[in-house]
Amino acid sequence: MTNPKPPKRPAAKINKSTPADLPVNQVLLGDCVEVMDSLPAKCADLVFADPPYNMQLGGDLWRPNMTKVDAVTDPWDKFKSFAEYDAFTRAWLTAARRVLKDTGTLWVIGSYHNIYRMGAVLMDAGYWILNDVAWIKANPLPQMKGTRFCNAHETLLWAKKSADQKKYTFHYRELKAGNDDKQMRSDWYIPICSGSEREKRDGKKAHATQKPEALMHRVIAATTNPGDLVLDPFCGSGTTAAVAKRLGRNFITVDREERYVEVARHRLADIAPALLTSPDESGVLLGAPKPRVPFISFIESGRLPLDATLRLKGTEARASLHPDGTVSAGGHRGSIHKVAAACLGLPTANGWTCWLFRDPLTDEEQLLDALRPG
Ligand SMILES: C[S@@+](CC[C@H](N)C(=O)[O-])C[C@H]1O[C@@H](n2cnc3c(N)ncnc32)[C@H](O)[C@@H]1O
Repeated sequence: MTNPKPPKRPAAKINKSTPADLPVNQVLLGDCVEVMDSLPAKCADLVFADPPYNMQLGGDLWRPNMTKVDAVTDPWDKFKSFAEYDAFTRAWLTAARRVLKDTGTLWVIGSYHNIYRMGAVLMDAGYWILNDVAWIKANPLPQMKGTRFCNAHETLLWAKKSADQKKYTFHYRELKAGNDDKQMRSDWYIPICSGSEREKRDGKKAHATQKPEALMHRVIAATTNPGDLVLDPFCGSGTTAAVAKRLGRNFITVDREERYVEVARHRLADIAPALLTSPDESGVLLGAPKPRVPFISFIESGRLPLDATLRLKGTEARASLHPDGTVSAGGHRGSIHKVAAACLGLPTANGWTCWLFRDPLTDEEQLLDALRPG
């Protein structure tokens, strides 16, 4: 018997559908709602938003050694009231939903100051939350006054456009394979942006809230494909655009402050897109679970004709097929798994890797598993 050859995994999808007249791979100066309203509907594969936190900080914060804490006190973070902040949130989330493709998703990041307000507004706007992810800061800023817990995380909400949306990009199997074959969880331990990663102007931080590239890498690699369009309405220092460019994605990003637009453009000029593995070299993903395909679908499609028989690997036991997707062998009837287990005298078995069928295309015996994509 020849070894069953694993079917070739479909090449990693490369999205080439971005319309040519979009301001792709540009940092735009302006108000994000106005800019998004000027874009065609359903053009973006992903929106990542890191909006103002509305921190409402009063006076300056000082460390015990009397050095000033570099807190977010910028005018872009000031709103007169929660109502004003909510109205602003509603406006940009609505504009973002219009530009998202029906297969697209949205990420928002925030702290306890704003994430709950944004969560409520986005649910009211029709989005459907897929996950909330805790970005746990490996090196958080200490709590200076000693009056509360040290605030060591921010929250990201990942949402699809509506509860009914069936398709969206999520590289579950690749993420698992890249995480020692363990499911990627919703607690991400990533250090805050510091050292040489920090964009600087005249020796000072160029932006108060620059996010770490590692965080954006996880988001973009997990939920987009090469060539996708990533839109960030709150550019800041340009972290989203920088990582999108590095990972071979397209981007559009906006900031209403000229100085940040200049910082981001400068940063992007230094970034070369990564040499991504060509789809031909990407290979078959080893050890990752195959997608769930019901056995009956191969009978329904005629790939396994009803008069075919299956042979239990290593034995001469044969099973016949039934139109409802069950099989029978040795006086047992049930799923390919249950019948294989019963024939082998085992508590459980994986029918996909126990049963062989004769492939009419090659006239060779193959494991049922060869039928499943993956
Ligand atoms: C939290 S920061 C984003 C930081 C960014 N993620 C980074 O890594 O550098 C928010 C940014 O949104 C910008 N901003 C605030 N309101 C805006 C608006 N209405 N339109 C466009 N940009 C806005 C601010 O100028 C600020 O740079």
